[in-house]
Amino acid sequence: MVIKGTELKKIILEDIKEKLKSIDRQLGLAVVQVGNDEASNVYIGQKEKLTKELNYKFIHKKFNEDISQEKLIQEIELLNDDDTIDGILIQMPLPSHLNSNIVLNSVDPDKDVDGLTYINAGRLVQNEPGLVPCTPKGVIDLLDYNKITITGKNIAVIGRSVLVGKPVTNMLINRNATVTLCHSKTSDIKSITKNSDIIVVGVGKKHYLTKDMIKEGATVVDVGINRVDGKLYGDADFENLKDKCSFITPVPGGIGPMTIAELGANVYNAYTLKKKRN
Ligand SMILES: NC(=O)c1ccc[n+]([C@@H]2O[C@H](COP(=O)([O-])OP(=O)(O)OC[C@H]3O[C@@H](n4cnc5c(N)ncnc54)[C@H](OP(=O)(O)O)[C@@H]3O)[C@@H](O)[C@H]2O)c1
Repeated sequence: MVIKGTELKKIILEDIKEKLKSIDRQLGLAVVQVGNDEASNVYIGQKEKLTKELNYKFIHKKFNEDISQEKLIQEIELLNDDDTIDGILIQMPLPSHLNSNIVLNSVDPDKDVDGLTYINAGRLVQNEPGLVPCTPKGVIDLLDYNKITITGKNIAVIGRSVLVGKPVTNMLINRNATVTLCHSKTSDIKSITKNSDIIVVGVGKKHYLTKDMIKEGATVVDVGINRVDGKLYGDADFENLKDKCSFITPVPGGIGPMTIAELGANVYNAYTLKKKRN
């Protein structure tokens, strides 16, 4: 069965709109961009569209490529102090003269809608309430929505980035799965994926996961987005895998839409978490 993210995206956005009716002010999202990376411009456009749909205030702070780290952090601190802004997102990648970790960690953890600050990463590891990265949250919600059991399952996660692999691993562990986290130095990944009930793949390589690597009836969640000759492909060889899987997410239309929906949800979550802490 092919499980799309588009249907659940709509449900999540409708649910947020319903919840927003009981809030007496407009929520706000700020995106901080340095330079003029073309892919970043596209991603920011998608975020602006989302804020229009949810009637969030949208601030796009775009700085020249040569902005100093000190000045950038001052600008982020202004957003931290701005009560009309609930979520702040630093658009990656940043130019190499900026230390991404320092910049990311200057965001107020309670406005960190990408869930990338040390505080939120720590909260996730400790299974405490916090803001979590949108793509991994989209993976979990899509599994839940399709009633795919996580507890007790053997799950292979391929890719160990701080944006995808590590947080999804922690979320799955928090949900009582047994997780094997694989990466480019893992030997014999096939022997791991062959024994996995669920495989979450996010490596950034077109058709990396092939039919011979999975067992009959496995669930495949494809996080990868690979643009080849203007066309989008996932990390899973969808056409050859789909008849062997119980469930598989397509690319495009699988985890991509979920990531956008979860960002919308995270702005609302940031608002409610902050309210609870105050
Ligand atoms: N759907 C969405 O909204 C969304 C959001 C974020 C990312 N993505 C996509 O997801 C993919 C991964 O993104 P990312 O940011 O996590 O990428 P990343 O930071 O480049 O990380 C890739 C990971 O894959 C591992 N890897 C690379 N080649 C491998 C191989 N041959 N075997 C096993 N592991 C291998 C790397 O291992 P090492 O650590 O050993 O180098 C690394 O951990 C990309 O296609 C990206 O576009 C999609």
